[in-house]
Amino acid sequence: MKTSADEQELERRFQQRIEDEQKIEPKDWMPAAYRKNLIRQISQHAHSEVIGMQPEGNFLTRAPSLRRKAVLLSKIQDEAGHGLYLYSAAETLGTPRSELIAALQAGEAKYASIFNYPTQTWGDVGAIGWLVDGAAIVNQISLQRTSYGPYARGMVRICKEESFHQRQGYEIMIALAHGSAEQREMAQDSLNRFYWPALMMFGPHDRESAHSARSMQWKIKRETNDDLRQKFIDQTVPQIAFLGLEHPDSGIRWNEERQHYDHGEIDWNEFYAVINGNGHCNRQRMEHHIRAHEEGAWVRDAIAAHREKRGGRKQQVA
Ligand code: 3HC
Repeated sequence: MKTSADEQELERRFQQRIEDEQKIEPKDWMPAAYRKNLIRQISQHAHSEVIGMQPEGNFLTRAPSLRRKAVLLSKIQDEAGHGLYLYSAAETLGTPRSELIAALQAGEAKYASIFNYPTQTWGDVGAIGWLVDGAAIVNQISLQRTSYGPYARGMVRICKEESFHQRQGYEIMIALAHGSAEQREMAQDSLNRFYWPALMMFGPHDRESAHSARSMQWKIKRETNDDLRQKFIDQTVPQIAFLGLEHPDSGIRWNEERQHYDHGEIDWNEFYAVINGNGHCNRQRMEHHIRAHEEGAWVRDAIAAHREKRGGRKQQVA
């Protein structure tokens, strides 16, 4: 029976490993709170990848050319793979995928709020690739250095594919912004509707963040929400200028002293309304996910039966 002195010693050694930049692996001792925080973040990251397929999937049958359709299909398939990597990483912490998915479908786990916004035009597909995947890259490059081994290694693979996602989105925006007046108007409208929700992907301000302090101490996070958001804001200004579009933030100003752009405030009421279930598409996204999961039950049953037939333990397949 471990005494509290034993626990303290284990925690001290664990934190020393974190300070020494040693990766924590699945079989290593870790504080229960570290494990819980990781299961929460990694599973929500996985949910985001999977739910994120829906908005773009809405345009698969309406892509303007066979090439655009093939590129979009390839991107969406990548997102599914990212979700599977991340569920696998979360499962190394001891929670089966079936439980993670049940939590999502019961509304007990989150996914990135931006996927509760509708895709109304082809410009939205461009804006999602450019801005949403662009924001995800800023966040995920940082997460390549996260202290948990399986998560860090999954990020390395995901970042390589994410770069293609961002480029294909920006290529769509270039075609629209340098096209007809109607196409330019479409690009501006998509930028206006997706810019601020993309900034929300980095989470609330550090001072309001429930998890950041611990996540930084454990090096789950290597940079704070606000620092990563600032990086994204800074990189997006010249991209918007190159497109010849108007910046959606009228408060955007270069600050020579800070060497960053000062910017307007995010509508946090909108953020919390969306993450608490009151976005445009929350219900639709969940209904679709539940329907697809139920329709896929036969695949899981077939895998389980095949495993049993080959002498494996009858395991539930998520
Ligand atoms: N959408 C939904 N919920 C969000 C959110 C967002 N954009 N930002 C924060 N939240 C939630 C948090 O999950 C937390 O709620 P919880 O306690 O119920 O989990 C609460 O708001 C407080 O936020 P914190 O900043 O305290 O939470 P974190 O420390 O977890 O930081 C985060 C939030 C920066 C999103 C962090 O979880 C993270 O880095 N996650 C991994 C990256 C990720 O999930 N990105 C989305 C990828 S989507 C994608 O890549 C698909 C693309 O390819 C199309």
